[in-house]
Amino acid sequence: MTAATLDIHLTDDDLDTALRSDARLGLTADPKWLPPKWFYDARGSELFERITELPEYYPTRTERALLERVVGEIADAAQAEVLVELGAGSAAKTRLLLSALGARGPLKKYVPQDVSSAALRAAADQVAAEFPGLAVHGVVSDFTDTLDNLPRGGRRMIAFLGGTIGNLVPEERAEFLARIHDVLEPGEQLLLGAGLVTDPAVLVPAYDDAAGVTAEFNRNVLHVLNARLGADFAPDRFRHVAVWDAEREWIEMRLEAVEDMTVTVGGLGLTVRFGRGDQMRTEISAKFRVAGLDAELAAAGFATGRVWTDPDDRFALVLAGRR
Ligand SMILES: C[S@@+](CC[C@H](N)C(=O)[O-])C[C@H]1O[C@@H](n2cnc3c(N)ncnc32)[C@H](O)[C@@H]1O
Repeated sequence: MTAATLDIHLTDDDLDTALRSDARLGLTADPKWLPPKWFYDARGSELFERITELPEYYPTRTERALLERVVGEIADAAQAEVLVELGAGSAAKTRLLLSALGARGPLKKYVPQDVSSAALRAAADQVAAEFPGLAVHGVVSDFTDTLDNLPRGGRRMIAFLGGTIGNLVPEERAEFLARIHDVLEPGEQLLLGAGLVTDPAVLVPAYDDAAGVTAEFNRNVLHVLNARLGADFAPDRFRHVAVWDAEREWIEMRLEAVEDMTVTVGGLGLTVRFGRGDQMRTEISAKFRVAGLDAELAAAGFATGRVWTDPDDRFALVLAGRR
């Protein structure tokens, strides 16, 4: 068996520098906010995996079922030699793509990318063991930064699954999709998995489960700030909040202070005050309409793609090519 190789474009020092900058910006803003990528240390990645198995968390099993149904069509259309996957996480659903691309086309290489090096290393090693003959080359980087460190050569498909696109606000999405378009060569494709607008009675519990796993995942960002920046957050003094913003069509996850408190972030020399009931935004998860997805992809330069949705119209897979 050939072991997976890993390119580290994000060292611990880089992470600390970026976290310092994000934390200073977000914790001094009004209202306070933090970018969602900081959930994902090794513990955060494990908690996300547990979320994907929760009864309320329909996105993962909906996307998986959709992929199972249409993966052959995707593989036939893409004819990819290289599958690049942004925010790959455990790459659980990616096995379906790898099998189909290998069986029906010329697949030679898999390039999972993620900010979470522990999760990426484990996923890359497992895929390498499961798919002998497939070269597996992981890339640890931040997809909101540059995409120039993704390998070139071979006909590529870039997959971005799990609805992670919804974690970006519209302006970030526009810039991100345009950057993906620009790193692709003509004829190469993007496979995008996106959550669709659906009943809030289904949406909200997916982000606020009865067992409290999502709450723990949300609070994990405070553990990360404590560990990496010497902060003294008491995570259990923050309540998990998930609300559906009907106007902007996104779920917002927040952490709400249950009492007045003062937090010190030693690494920043910063003191942060929370009043009882103050809320800090930690994630948005935008949901889409197919026409809106088409429009965003077209604005980024993509040719009109193929779209598949599940029978309940809760999730879409879009295959869009670089013009
Ligand atoms: C919602 S999870 C989805 C995981 C997997 N793709 C799936 O479909 O189940 C988001 C993934 O993106 C990664 N991620 C989040 N922000 C990132 C960033 N800025 N750069 C790279 N990876 C990021 C996380 O570590 C996590 O693995």
